[in-house]
Amino acid sequence: MNKITAAITAVNGYVPPSILSNKDLEMMVDTSDEWITSRTGVKERRILKEPGLATSDMAVEAVNGLLKKRGIGPDEIDLIIFATVTGDMIFPSTACILADKIGAKNALAYDLGAACSGFLFSLETGARFIESGKYKKVLVIGADKMSAIIDYTDRNTCIIFGDGGGCVLLEPNYEGLGIIDSVLKIDGSGRHYLHQKAGGSLKPPTHQTVDAKEHYVYQDGKTVFKFAVNGMADVSAQIMEQNHLTAEDVDWLVPHQANLRIIDATADRMGISKEKVMINIDHFGNTTNGTLPLCLWEWEKKLKKGDNLVLAAFGGGFTWGAIYLKWAYDGSKVA
Ligand code: UT7
Repeated sequence: MNKITAAITAVNGYVPPSILSNKDLEMMVDTSDEWITSRTGVKERRILKEPGLATSDMAVEAVNGLLKKRGIGPDEIDLIIFATVTGDMIFPSTACILADKIGAKNALAYDLGAACSGFLFSLETGARFIESGKYKKVLVIGADKMSAIIDYTDRNTCIIFGDGGGCVLLEPNYEGLGIIDSVLKIDGSGRHYLHQKAGGSLKPPTHQTVDAKEHYVYQDGKTVFKFAVNGMADVSAQIMEQNHLTAEDVDWLVPHQANLRIIDATADRMGISKEKVMINIDHFGNTTNGTLPLCLWEWEKKLKKGDNLVLAAFGGGFTWGAIYLKWAYDGSKVA
C-alpha cells in the first residue's frame, strides 16, 4: 500500500454579518482610513456583536457547513483540534464545547494554543494522526472572537483585528496529495511583545487588572512587525528550498493576514507574483487563528487537484512557520 498522507478534503468558513469599517474607527480613535489602509491593508473587519455568542458559535456555523459539503455526519469525526486564543472559557476547551454543540459523539477533542500560528501547528498535529493510521477524519478549526479581547480605545490594536474563522477536514490520501512538509518554529522570548497581561494564573482578573485594561491584547507593533516580516519570509523561502520548489512551482501562497506589508515581503522573498497570493485582509482584517482557513474557504473554487500551496504564519509566542501541501481536489466541482 502507498504511504498515507493527510489531505484536506473539505473546507468552510464563517464570519459574522456586522461590519466595522475604517470610517467607523475614525469615530472611535484618532486614526484615518488612509493611515489604516496604507499601513496595514485593512479596510473593514467583521465583529460578532450578538451578546451570548462566542468563538465556538462561529465554529459551529463553519463546521456544520463543512459536514454538509462533505456529506458526512458529526459522529464520523475522530478528532477535533481547535486553534484559538479566545476560547469561550478558560476551561473546558472550546473543542469540547464545539463537539457537544455539533453532536460529535465519537471524537477526541482539544484546543491548541499557538496564537496566530495555531492553525498551522494544528494542521501539522492533525496530519500526524492521519499519517499514523490512528484516525481517518480529523477536523482542524481556527477561529477567534478577537473583539472580546480588543480595547477599542487603543489605535495600535483595534484597527487590525476582526472576528471569524474556518475549518478543514483531513483524511488519508494514497496518491501523494496533502501535507508534504512543514517548518514550524517558536521563540518564547518574543512573549514580551504580544500578549494578554491578565486573566491567567500569573495575574488572575481583579478590579485593578480590569481598570488597567490588562485583559486586552497588548502589542508592541513595531517589534512584532520586524520579527514577523523576517520570520514569515524565512520559513517560506526555507520550505521552497528544502522541497526544490521554484516560484513557478508554487500555485498559491496562503499567508497569515496580519499586515499587507508583511504579506508583500513574504511574496517578494519567494519571488511569487501578486495574483498567486491569497489576500483578504482588506475585508476581514486579522482574525488570528481564522486567517488561513478563511483564505482557503474564499479561494476554494479556484483550487485545483495537485496545486502546490505554501501556507505561512507568524504570531504571539513568538510562533511561526510554513506548510507545503498539495491540494487534493478540484474546488470548482464543489457544490
Ligand atoms: O498577527 C499577529 C502578529 N501581529 C503582527 O504581525 C502586527 C505587526 N505590526 C504591525 O502590523 C504594525 O506595527 C502596526 C500596524 C501595528 C503599526 O504600524 P507601524 O507602521 O509599525 O506604525 P508605528 O507604530 O511605527 O507608528 C507610526 C506612526 C506613529 O506616529 P509618529 O510617532 O511617527 O508621529 C504612531 O503614533 O503612526 C502613528 N500611529 C497611527 N496613526 C494613525 C500608530 N497607529 C496609528 C493609527 N492611526 N491607528
